[in-house]
Amino acid sequence: MGVELKVNLGQRSYPIFIVSSQLPHLGRYLIPLSLASRVFVITDEVVGRLYGEQVTRALRDAGFEVLYQELPDGEEYKSLESAGQLYTRALEGGVERRSAMIALGGGVIGDLAGFVAATYMRGVPLVQVPTTLLAQVDSSVGGKVAVNHPLGKNMIGCFYQPRLVFADVATLKTLPLREIRAGLAEVIKYGVIRDKDFFEFLEENLEKILRLDQDVLIEVVKRSCAIKAGIVEKDETEQELRAILNFGHTIGHALEVLTKYRVYRHGEAVAAGMVAAAAIAEEKGLCGPDLTMRLAGILEHAGLPVRIPFKAEEIIEVLPRDKKAQGGWPRFVLPVALGRVVIDADVGRDVIRSALERCRAERGELS
Ligand SMILES: NC(=O)c1ccc[n+]([C@@H]2O[C@H](COP(=O)([O-])OP(=O)(O)OC[C@H]3O[C@@H](n4cnc5c(N)ncnc54)[C@H](O)[C@@H]3O)[C@@H](O)[C@H]2O)c1
Repeated sequence: MGVELKVNLGQRSYPIFIVSSQLPHLGRYLIPLSLASRVFVITDEVVGRLYGEQVTRALRDAGFEVLYQELPDGEEYKSLESAGQLYTRALEGGVERRSAMIALGGGVIGDLAGFVAATYMRGVPLVQVPTTLLAQVDSSVGGKVAVNHPLGKNMIGCFYQPRLVFADVATLKTLPLREIRAGLAEVIKYGVIRDKDFFEFLEENLEKILRLDQDVLIEVVKRSCAIKAGIVEKDETEQELRAILNFGHTIGHALEVLTKYRVYRHGEAVAAGMVAAAAIAEEKGLCGPDLTMRLAGILEHAGLPVRIPFKAEEIIEVLPRDKKAQGGWPRFVLPVALGRVVIDADVGRDVIRSALERCRAERGELS
């Protein structure tokens, strides 16, 4: 069971395999890449306990020698220090220029192992084996790799495309439901920014997705990756179009900052941020209230927060710190219809204030 997509980036093109229960065959998919026999698997302790052995065996069965490293689980380990440990392990373990680094895990491992692959010996082949819904639909595709700096998330990084992405949706069966929901926020985002039919497919199939129906999940990951790939192909390094992927992220980021990254999973903050962005679009006359209601409806059904538990002024105060701010103020991605958004650099404080206050009046205060 599975499908194949391609990200078309000239010499940096690569396939995305979206499969179910194919992890034992991972090695076979790597053979066409002409890699060195030694590969370096990087994972975290949680994913390692669940899938480390299976992946190692799959690679050995295909003739690879496996160097294997687990890191502790957690965003705080997406750091230069962890990268340093991985460089040492790779050097001591004989990882050479044609050796693949295999990122087995969620977005934390994907970003960290990707950064290490991009910089070790000026770049070695990277294979993404994403095991969270967020990583399968978002972080493993598109080539953004990074580590965090104490002064900001993802501040040290680059663009480095993988040679192959292998997303096995059966791995989502062990993922906590909260993580599935958080990943779904990014999936719903794709429908709003690019594809009304997909949004409607999600509305119709939400229960099946939450039950982890494998056929439906393959379809969800496939359509999400196709949308992201289509955007990345047109604007690999985020000069303009790629910024639409930040829909919901501006207010979402403000929520993460105000709660010191301790309350929301990223997708949860994005969910509330998307509803706020729709309300801002409404306030500016760019869309009608039906869009905001429909978006809030599907997010609530998915078990995601749609309310902003802060006063408008508190949100506005942290907006200049947005990492995508230009000239001290963020550009907003605003929906004009389901499937279409615009980038708006001219969203004033008054508009945000009245939109957020209206949200509070309509949806209440608590998330
Ligand atoms: N590069 C990009 O384009 C991009 C895009 C979005 C997010 N990100 C980054 O992604 C990171 C967040 O990724 P995430 O949400 O996947 O978090 P994560 O990598 O921390 O994974 C979440 C949790 O799930 C566990 N886990 C992973 N797979 C599992 C499985 N199959 N079964 C059971 N448990 C499993 C992990 O051990 C972890 O505890 C952030 O660092 C963010 O900056 C990057």
